[in-house]
Amino acid sequence: MPVDATTTHAWGSLTELSANLVPDLRGWFAADPDRAGRYTHQAADLHVDLSKNLVTDEVLATLLALADEVGLTERRDAMFAGEHINVTEDRAVLHTALRRPSDQPLTVDGQDVTGDVADELAKVYAFAEKVRSGEWTGVTGERVRTVVNIGIGGSDLGPVMAYEALEPFVQDGLEVRFVSNIDPTDVAQKTADLDPTTTLFIVASKTFGTLETLTNARLARDWLWRSLVAAGAIEDSDEGRSDAVAKHFVAVSTALDKVEAFGIDPANAFGFWDWVGGRYSVDSAIGTSLAVAIGPDAFADLLAGFHAMDEHFRTTPLDQNVPVLMGLLNVWYTNFRNAHTHAVLPYAQQLHRFPAYLQQLTMESNGKSVRWDGSPVTTDTGEVFWGEPGTNGQHAFYQLIHQGTRLIPADFIAVANPAYPLTDAVGDGKDVAAGADVHGLFLANFFAQTKALAFGKTPDEVRAEGVAEELVSARTFPGNRPTTSILAPALTPSVLGQLVALYEHITFVQGVVWGIDSFDQWGVELGKKLALEIAPAVVGDEAALAAQDPSTAALITRYRELRA
Ligand code: F6P
Repeated sequence: MPVDATTTHAWGSLTELSANLVPDLRGWFAADPDRAGRYTHQAADLHVDLSKNLVTDEVLATLLALADEVGLTERRDAMFAGEHINVTEDRAVLHTALRRPSDQPLTVDGQDVTGDVADELAKVYAFAEKVRSGEWTGVTGERVRTVVNIGIGGSDLGPVMAYEALEPFVQDGLEVRFVSNIDPTDVAQKTADLDPTTTLFIVASKTFGTLETLTNARLARDWLWRSLVAAGAIEDSDEGRSDAVAKHFVAVSTALDKVEAFGIDPANAFGFWDWVGGRYSVDSAIGTSLAVAIGPDAFADLLAGFHAMDEHFRTTPLDQNVPVLMGLLNVWYTNFRNAHTHAVLPYAQQLHRFPAYLQQLTMESNGKSVRWDGSPVTTDTGEVFWGEPGTNGQHAFYQLIHQGTRLIPADFIAVANPAYPLTDAVGDGKDVAAGADVHGLFLANFFAQTKALAFGKTPDEVRAEGVAEELVSARTFPGNRPTTSILAPALTPSVLGQLVALYEHITFVQGVVWGIDSFDQWGVELGKKLALEIAPAVVGDEAALAAQDPSTAALITRYRELRA
């Protein structure tokens, strides 16, 4: 049975501390010149500054006491050891084993986990090398130029996010595209300009039972057959078609029997295990498309980055443990400061899919109303995560973060060395000097935003600029808007692994405090089932239509009319 966090001594103290807390980042920094230093931590290559959060030493100490009272370290150790902490599915939670060095054996439920991971990874790497070297060819003997990953949720968001983030590491002449949506536009657009003889599809699905993925896989297979026949590359025969699938389709799944039923040779399938949740699987064989794109060495570097953050989480004292501190801060804002959302703002264009990736990681994990023993939660859980890369967000929604009525904690993430270090040769003759380093200008925005959010601008400062009195309030910035700043040397595969693992563990910490199972996702099932029940009504089954509620029936009817 989970500890009910709200009954702990620390929870009572935090409630009291929050009631008496008047956030004052200006005052706190003025009174404590070492605040930035004391609240900044290093986790692997990540420099993490927590000092602009709305906490005092006492609040932080009490949050750490809460972690102690809910048994965070015991739960963490149980996860690493492979105990079945995914209670509702009776499974171990071992994504950390995917990046565990092979010389650190781990046996769970009688399975040699480390050995199995190493064997499967070797298969993925060998396949990646074959594609990259041109040894793997399509039906006409052409090498692969485009890999199309077909998957959704964790079988899409991780690979696409990482592919975009690591674009400078992608082999020249290779491209990966990602098809996820069952909207037929997705597969149609992504295949429209492709040469079938140089295209390889990877069907990625943990269960190999997901409607969207299997439908898209069939559409892609059909496109492949049609276009290869049209190009005269295969005979329009069973033999021609099965040869095309053998050379242009591979799969990633835990359900290898279903892969075979689809027509893909199990020899061309890469497996993983039920103890890897979909949203925690980018570093399993689900990352095969990425391994092809960036190559085994870079993929191994990614895994090493994950592991470095795992080790930080597993071994660092809690008061310097970044995922623990960031998870506890999220609890503080959600449960004691009435925050409902959390912004993630990468100041790195290549991380533009990172917020979308985090949405599944955090919200599918912690969007729960019952605890792991089935009893109702005792407090709010699961913030809404959202975000866009800076500086785009500045010109869109930052207004609300700066001057709105809602508290929105925000994580700012940047790397110091850009992949494309351009200079502005000409400048603008005013604010931007000729020869200016554009990345420096970019990061000046990061530093300016976090500063403005923390310290704001007082009415007197506005007046001192000569602003008319009636405009002073509109131009005042209240400040005390909390941010965490994360800086890394460069967006290497290792740093990306560290970042992803950081958020995995933050999510875990919050789940432990709330007493929930962060590794199941029953909330997605009802809609999937209803879609299958409704589908006949959409295509004309009148009895199925009559069985719908009036609103749904009217919408389906209107859709049918509009389609006609
Ligand atoms: O519907 C949610 C979900 O089960 C996710 O948890 C998962 O990542 C996604 O669907 C895709 O599932 P699969 O990899 O089995 O196709």
